[in-house]
Amino acid sequence: MPRAQPQKHPFTDTTMQNETMKEPNAQDSSAVATNGQTQLRRLERIAAGEHLPSEIHPEIMDESAILEIKDFCLWYGAKQALFDVSMRIPAGKVTALIGPSGCGKSTLLRSVNRMNDLIDGVRTDGDMQLYDQSILAPDVDVIELRKMMGMVFQKPNPFPMSIFENVVYPLRIDGENNRAVLEEVCERSLRGAALWGEVKDRLHESGLSLSGGQQQRLCIARAIASEPEVLLLDEPCSALDPVSSGKVEDLISELAGQYTVLVVTHNMQQAARVSDYTAFMYLGHLIEYGKTEVIFSEPRLRETEDYTTGRFG
Ligand SMILES: Nc1ncnc2c1ncn2[C@@H]1O[C@H](COP(=O)(O)OP(=O)(O)OP(=O)(O)O)[C@@H](O)[C@H]1O
Ligand SMILES: [Mg+2]
Repeated sequence: MPRAQPQKHPFTDTTMQNETMKEPNAQDSSAVATNGQTQLRRLERIAAGEHLPSEIHPEIMDESAILEIKDFCLWYGAKQALFDVSMRIPAGKVTALIGPSGCGKSTLLRSVNRMNDLIDGVRTDGDMQLYDQSILAPDVDVIELRKMMGMVFQKPNPFPMSIFENVVYPLRIDGENNRAVLEEVCERSLRGAALWGEVKDRLHESGLSLSGGQQQRLCIARAIASEPEVLLLDEPCSALDPVSSGKVEDLISELAGQYTVLVVTHNMQQAARVSDYTAFMYLGHLIEYGKTEVIFSEPRLRETEDYTTGRFG
């Protein structure tokens, strides 16, 4: 499929951006008087049910987007968890999703490969497009879609089978039994996941016999075995010790270019180290989205700075 071309985004409207930059900042008192009226801070207005436009940095428009999320809303039963989220995910880059617990990061990630379909009572509005094709259309082959989206969860989840069989599992499901093909994919995926050197002599031992950090890299190897377009990583390091976490972080940086990576993390240093772009979410809203170095050094919104510097959340 051809790579999607950058498109004009409704939130690049500079009038809107200038408007949002006039917001009082979080270091001010929680409400400020403007022309005799009391104006609440942005996050309080959102908590009170207002919808404010996201602060999307214009640099994102220069990137070629592989995935485009358009006015996406999601409800769990009567409870709305995502509100008009619009964002372009640049191809071949690492994009980090950050924000306080419960702000909808995992919900957004799971929506991209339609895992929320499995939850009763979930309803969505808006669209998500991979290479300009809707992910959410009823006729989408969800199995094929999930092959294009490798997903890795917080807790490593190797299957109770050998290291080799764990890695080639996606191919086995497709009916691939040619030994030479499976061996080639196994080695390539384990090398890609920076695990080959550690396990090449024990491929037939159980995946469960590996350390936590090795198990997580095994899960990444399994996720890349089917050569996905996008890797979805939901807090991939949070269950790991610092050394293992560092290896997985290095791996994420190495995978960029070859894959598009969307990674959820609570670790600000990690987001700053591994990602090219960072999106800050709050209560189901996308607040600010831009280049990682800008989000962490001079974000447009004081609320973003307050979150990344640990003043709240
Ligand atoms: N299966 C579900 N059924 C009902 N509500 C849900 C479900 N999953 C998540 N939610 C709610 O949706 C909101 C967003 O949850 P989500 O798990 O996406 O947040 P998160 O940003 O990933 O949080 P964390 O950082 O704690 O993982 C929360 O209010 C949560 O309670
Ligand atoms: Mg989560």
